[in-house]
Amino acid sequence: MLPTNRGRPQQRPPPRSWSFSEMVDFSDPKRRPRHLSKLVMAALLTAMCVLMLTQPPCHRRPAPSVFSIHQPGVTHVLVTGGAGYIGSHAALRLLKDSFRVTIVDNLSRGNIGAIKVLQNLFPEPGRLQFIQADLGDPKAVNRIFAENAFDAVMHFAAVAYVGESTLEPLRYYHNITANTLVVLEAMATHNVKTLIYSSTCATYGEPEKMPITEETPQFPINPYGKAKKMAEDIILDFSKSKKADMAVMILRYFNVIGSDPEGRLGEAPRPELREHGRISGACFDAALGIIPGLKVRLTIAVCCAILLSERSIFWLLFF
Ligand SMILES: NC(=O)c1ccc[n+]([C@@H]2O[C@H](COP(=O)([O-])OP(=O)(O)OC[C@H]3O[C@@H](n4cnc5c(N)ncnc54)[C@H](O)[C@@H]3O)[C@@H](O)[C@H]2O)c1
Repeated sequence: MLPTNRGRPQQRPPPRSWSFSEMVDFSDPKRRPRHLSKLVMAALLTAMCVLMLTQPPCHRRPAPSVFSIHQPGVTHVLVTGGAGYIGSHAALRLLKDSFRVTIVDNLSRGNIGAIKVLQNLFPEPGRLQFIQADLGDPKAVNRIFAENAFDAVMHFAAVAYVGESTLEPLRYYHNITANTLVVLEAMATHNVKTLIYSSTCATYGEPEKMPITEETPQFPINPYGKAKKMAEDIILDFSKSKKADMAVMILRYFNVIGSDPEGRLGEAPRPELREHGRISGACFDAALGIIPGLKVRLTIAVCCAILLSERSIFWLLFF
């Protein structure tokens, strides 16, 4: 007969408490190096994954490309804020006129739909590229300039709501003034000598004499206008320095309205910004019956809106 333990209570081993040193057995000197190397590999792989995932998308672009080469007869323009209202129309016009265009936008306010429209219209290689990046990140901006051969910059990217600027002044000074400095520094470092800057009539404040001319003194009355005026001053001071040798144009308009005559692009104001008021938002609200109607008082703003309808803005920009 085989011996059995029946009838006698079985003695169970005491429950084991697991510790990390038991899971990974370092006591066997032969196995130790293998485990160690596996751990090191795993740590390395994890670190690489974390690094890749935390890099902004622009760092993941394959390089180099045709955009990184100066090509005779081709003018390569960097359009900042090209996913936004004015920037996307400017990019469309540049592309129509055979410029090579790079759009940089962080899509904080702009519309990826506008980029898609432009990409569909100009799918040929070397015409248009879009880089999602924030101009508040000097490293990213510097890298973009290092990887691309720009001939000129049109700087539209900005937060641009007067009401919002009074609530969040620091955001406006940072986004408008400080970011313009970042762009200028990158231009200086990478020898880009032509800048068109999208400023605003808000830099004039409430002028005593009408109409506003180039000679009208600039006394902005809100953080938006002040941030733009500071950015203008920085640009002008730098452009005057011998070292810079820059060609600069500053556009001061406000309450732009209208859209691409073929209806491919237009203004798409964000609903959450409606309360900060733009003339276009008020028009949309009136047209959709959200508000009963639109009272127009003939102020400077309205005069400018009428003067700078979509045709005249392009007249200003390109002729
Ligand atoms: N719309 C007007 O009536 C008007 C009038 C006068 C001046 N402007 C100026 O023209 C420019 C364009 O205005 P808009 O009406 O097209 O505005 P918009 O909001 O439609 O476009 C601005 C674009 O800039 C991008 N942007 C903002 N901050 C950025 C950042 N840190 N990095 C990268 N991209 C960023 C936004 O995502 C957006 O696509 C602005 O500089 C504005 O001050 C506009």
